[in-house]
Parts: sequence; C-alpha cells; structure tokens
Amino acid sequence: MEKFKRHLVTAALPYANGPVHIGHLAGNFLPADIYARYLRANKKDVKFICGTDEHGVPITIRAMKEGVTPQDIVDKYHHIINESLKEMGISFDIFSRTSNQVHHETSQAFFKKLYDNHLFEEKESEQYFDEEKQTFLADRYITGTCPKCANPNAYGDQCEKCGSALSPDELINPKSTLSSSIPQKKVTKHWYLPLQNYEAWLKQWILEDHKEWKNNVYGQCKSWLDNGLQSRAMTRDSTWGVKVPLPDADGKVLYVWFDAPIGYISATKELTAQWSDYWCKDDTQLVHFLGKDNIVFHCIIFPAMLKAHGGFVLPDNVPANEFLNLEGEKVSTSRNWAVWVDEYVKDFPDMQDALRYVLCANAPENKDNDFTWKDFQERVNSELVAILGNFVNRTFVLVHKLCKGKVPPFHLAKKDATDDALFEKIKSTKQNIASSIETYKFREALFSVIDLAREGNKYLQEKEPWKKGDDQESIDNSLHMCLQLCANLAIYMNPFLPFTAQKLCRLMKVVDRMLDWENGGSLKLLNTGYPMQAPELLFKKIEDEDIIRQVEKLHQAAKPYIGETEKNNEQVIIHPIKPEITFEDFDKIDLRVGKIVHAEKVEKADKLLKLTIDLGNEQRTVVSGIAMHYTPDEIIGLQVSVVANLAPRKMRGIESKGMILMAEDEKGKLIFINPHGEAMNGSMVK
Ligand code: 2FM
Ligand code: ZN
Repeated sequence: MEKFKRHLVTAALPYANGPVHIGHLAGNFLPADIYARYLRANKKDVKFICGTDEHGVPITIRAMKEGVTPQDIVDKYHHIINESLKEMGISFDIFSRTSNQVHHETSQAFFKKLYDNHLFEEKESEQYFDEEKQTFLADRYITGTCPKCANPNAYGDQCEKCGSALSPDELINPKSTLSSSIPQKKVTKHWYLPLQNYEAWLKQWILEDHKEWKNNVYGQCKSWLDNGLQSRAMTRDSTWGVKVPLPDADGKVLYVWFDAPIGYISATKELTAQWSDYWCKDDTQLVHFLGKDNIVFHCIIFPAMLKAHGGFVLPDNVPANEFLNLEGEKVSTSRNWAVWVDEYVKDFPDMQDALRYVLCANAPENKDNDFTWKDFQERVNSELVAILGNFVNRTFVLVHKLCKGKVPPFHLAKKDATDDALFEKIKSTKQNIASSIETYKFREALFSVIDLAREGNKYLQEKEPWKKGDDQESIDNSLHMCLQLCANLAIYMNPFLPFTAQKLCRLMKVVDRMLDWENGGSLKLLNTGYPMQAPELLFKKIEDEDIIRQVEKLHQAAKPYIGETEKNNEQVIIHPIKPEITFEDFDKIDLRVGKIVHAEKVEKADKLLKLTIDLGNEQRTVVSGIAMHYTPDEIIGLQVSVVANLAPRKMRGIESKGMILMAEDEKGKLIFINPHGEAMNGSMVK
C-alpha cells in the first residue's frame, strides 16, 4: 500500500431501474466502503466513487412496463438508491449518475479518440427491426419459441425456462415485444472493439502480473482468455443512451457497458478538478469492487478500452465477490425475492451496523453464501450483543460502580502477565486487521475485532474487579485496561461498524480523530481521571418476532415464477431453482430403479400408500403420499425412481426406507418419474 500516493476505490454502478438489495450491499458497496474507510483512517488520499448506471435495455423495459419515460425511471431510482446507501453509511465521495452532461461528454470523447485512432472495426450485420415502431430491437425485446425446450416465451438472449443462452436468430417465430409484430431483418452498422488484439497483453497483465488476484476472479479471467476473445460491438441501435459522436450515427448510442465504466472517470471529474491526478498517474491505486457477473467487464473489456485509449491507470485489483442467496434461494428482483435496503432501514431504524456486521461476517468472498433471517438474529445476538456489546457495557457499568465513572489510574507496580498478554493482543490485532483488509479478506478482519472483544471478556472474568473489595489498585488497573481496550476496539471496528464506533466515541467523550488508525495499539488513548458517559447498550437484541415478521414479509411479497404448460399454454407456477450444489453433494444421493411389487392403503391415512419396492437384491417398504392420485392396483408392476439411502422415517407406525421421485402436473397430480423402457431393478440412476 505504501507504494501508492492516492487511491481510487470504485463500487459497481447500480442500474437505476430498481432499488438495491442486500446482495448488492454484501457483494459490492460494503466491502468497498470498509476499504475506503480503512484508507481514510490511515490518512490516505482516497476517492470513493459510485453513481447510478442509467442507460441500457433494463431501464427502457421498465419504463415501457410502467408507461413512463426512461428519464422518470432513472430519476426515481437514483434518488431511492442514493438515500438508502447513505443511510447504510456507505461513504462515497461522490454518487453521480451516467445521465449527467459531463458523463455524456467524457464517454463521447473517449469513443471519439478510439475512433480517430482507427481502433474500431466498422461492421454491418443484419438485425431484427420493428417496422411498426421503426426501431431496431435489442435481444431482450424479441420473444419467441425456445429451440431447446419449446418454451413459447423465450427472450432473444436467454430462455428463462431452460436457462439456455440464445441469440435472436435461434428463436422460432420471433415477435417484437414492442408491437407484437413479426420483426424483419435489416442491415445495421456498428463499431466493434477487436478484443482479440488485446488478448496477448491481457494474458500477460492478468495471468502473469496479477497472480495475487482472488482465485474466483483470476479463474474467470483465465477461462475467458483461454477461450479466445472476439470483436464486440460497442454501439447499439437505441434512442436511450449516450449518442455515438459521429456524423452518420443517428439512432445509435454507446453500448451501456462501454459508457458505464467510463462513469467512474466522469464522476471523478465531477468531484475534483484534480481528477487526472487520480486517473492518469502511475502511483494511484485503482480498486474496483463488484459482483461476479461484472468480472469480465472490469477485468477484460474496460482494461482493453483503457489500454486502447492510453494514459489511464489500470486496476491494481478487482476483488469481486460471489453471490449472496436469500433463505436458500437465488435473489431475484423480478420475483421480488430480495431484502431491499430502503426497506431494511425503515424496518430496523438505527440498526445499520447490525446488517453491516452480518453481511460482512457472511460475505460471499470466495463462494456463494446464504443470508437467512435466523442467521441474522443469531449473529447479532450471540456475537455483536453477547461479545462486543457485552464487553463494552460491562466495562462502563463497572467503571461507574467502582471508579466513580472516571478513567482510573494504572498502577505500574501492580502490572501483571495478564495485562501484558492483553496489550500484546491489542497490538497484534491491529496488524492482523490491517493485513487482512489490505488483502481484501474483510470477514477475517472483522473476526479479529470480535476475537479481541472476546479476549476482553475473558480478561474481565479473570480479573473479577467486582470481587476485589477495597483493593482499589487492582480494580483500577483492570478497568483502566478495559477502557483502553474499548478505545482500541472503536478504532478497529470503525471501518466495519462506523455508527457504533461513533457511539463509543460519544460514550468515551473523545473526538472522532481518536479513530485514526495510527492510534490503534496504544494504552494511552484515554487520560486518567477523564469522566465517561453513563453506560448505554451498543446493540439491540433481535427478537423472534422481528425475524418472523421479515420472513413472512419476504414470502408474502414474493411473486411465483410463472411458466406455461406445453399442452394448452395455461399459466402455472414454476418453483425457483435451489442454490447450486457441488457434484460431491449430488453424489451423496443414491438413486435406484425399483419395481412396485405390492401396494396397499395405510389405515386412517387418506394420502398414504404402503409400497413394497424390489431393488434387485432386496425388497423395501416405502410409505408414499400418493393415495389421492393412484389406487394400489394401478401401480403394481410399475418401475419407479427411488432415493435409496434416505434415513428411515416412521410414518403412521410404519418404517419407510426411501422415497419415490414424483413430479407434479399443472393440476397438482403427482406423476411417477420412471425409466423410459425397462431398466434392471436396483440399477443406479445417475
Ligand atoms: O451489473 C450492473 O448492475 C451494472 N450496472 C454495473 C455497472 S459497473 C460499471 F462498469 F459501471
Ligand atoms: Zn428453453
């Protein structure tokens, strides 16, 4: 870090087509904020840059759906996003927007320079055109039948039913979503950046010179580079966006992924007249924070653009995170399966640090992670409240009870090994946190803070000042140490829990300057005799009702996935795909083919049938909830798929050993998943 004179920290610009959710916070804004706050505490020259990404197809689609203009949409969400991130303490130096004049000018000048230097390929291609609306259609504006799964509502870029990536040309019976007319192919001209020309340079710069990047980032870059890069269009046919600054380019705008990252530069320009010091001098450290879906744009396309342009610094690191799932399912904005930040701050006033804590402790730094309200409650109550809050509170209560509410003196003659050990721990924690943050391991850094508070509790337990009677010197020493530890904790927690660090400063009646990082590791932060405020709890406990209310709210607000049946296009609910598992997870399940050799009703249980299944070398009893759909007679002799290694369960007094796989049709009837043709009983399903 010492080699850099200035730091530019960016957080990926959120699209202004909806509010931000906790996945954005965990993946992107929070780690960037922790890093920026840490740098500021170190008195580094830092600019923390963000803003809203206000161009691109999702915004125009949202505007169309709501019957308003794209400008109305971006105005509304810029404001909501800005406010909610401010409330969460995300300390941007600027939160700009890509619809600003300075951004249009900056990105146009960038494009023009590449154009003038002949760095684009100009190519004509045939693309779909809506004659009725007189406009070319972005891939998302075209729907048709998926060639892979026959879903009649696939998009031109993806089928949401089978997940296949598509191009509009592959759709059967394509239709314009703007007018429902059949689009026609029409020739259009665009400017392409030949990324292959930068491939050798990118390989050297990332794969050789940046081996220290996080594995998930390095791995994704390597796979893109190994697969070979191709020319990519940097312009689009649209009326919403930054106009292509060329005379023969009516109706053409810059590709949103061309203009958005330039937004970091234009926002810096807006922030400071010295913007070029930050962007053009080699001793600037540029760090981009983002989620994994943005890696290719920040590690390959934007650096290639910067290289082509020349004169700009390149990112020193791109510590991208994986995704945060929610209650076991992928976050989905279209299904409203999300915890929205603007709603959290309303539902949990003055509890920003609780969410910051849990999102950092559970951050998807190396793999996708899951946020559950239960885990939120447990972490807040058993870590923030029971360890950190408890230590500070005990200290303040005891200081008021045993030391008249003032910082007691430290009697050197009575110093012992326990005091020394605590001091060592305070000093080593400072180093540990620093090196974790500087290598972007924010969870590890946060756990060091909690560990130190845990040590504080142990120290108090060992010293037991409340039992020392009139041995005032012992009481003084232990509470002096504990108060100095509180001050150190305030410094260490500050990047992560800034609201709590401030509150602690207020309780200790010290100014914010005490939180400067250089003060950490000292036992002279609070002067002897200095009066402390009366104790106040740092954190509120999360009650069961609080989280039950949130889980209910989540389920009530979630929209089901709607799909269509192939038979008669009826609308049905499609359950979301569960979060990814590894092959090893899947491999634990032993699936077999078996034959139903006997079936009978279970007495006094309307839904249950007791089945005997032949698994080749053994016969099993399986109790299955299919009695409403099948009579015993009609299923005897059927081959079925069985989960053979499921732990046995007693149902109505009968031990069931395994489970039959069933699907549900649109009427809710259960359908057997059986082999197509005869398979051997006992054969593995893989
Ligand atoms: O994925 C997204 O939300 C994009 N709006 C991120 C843009 S980051 C940058 F390049 F501006
Ligand atoms: Zn499909």
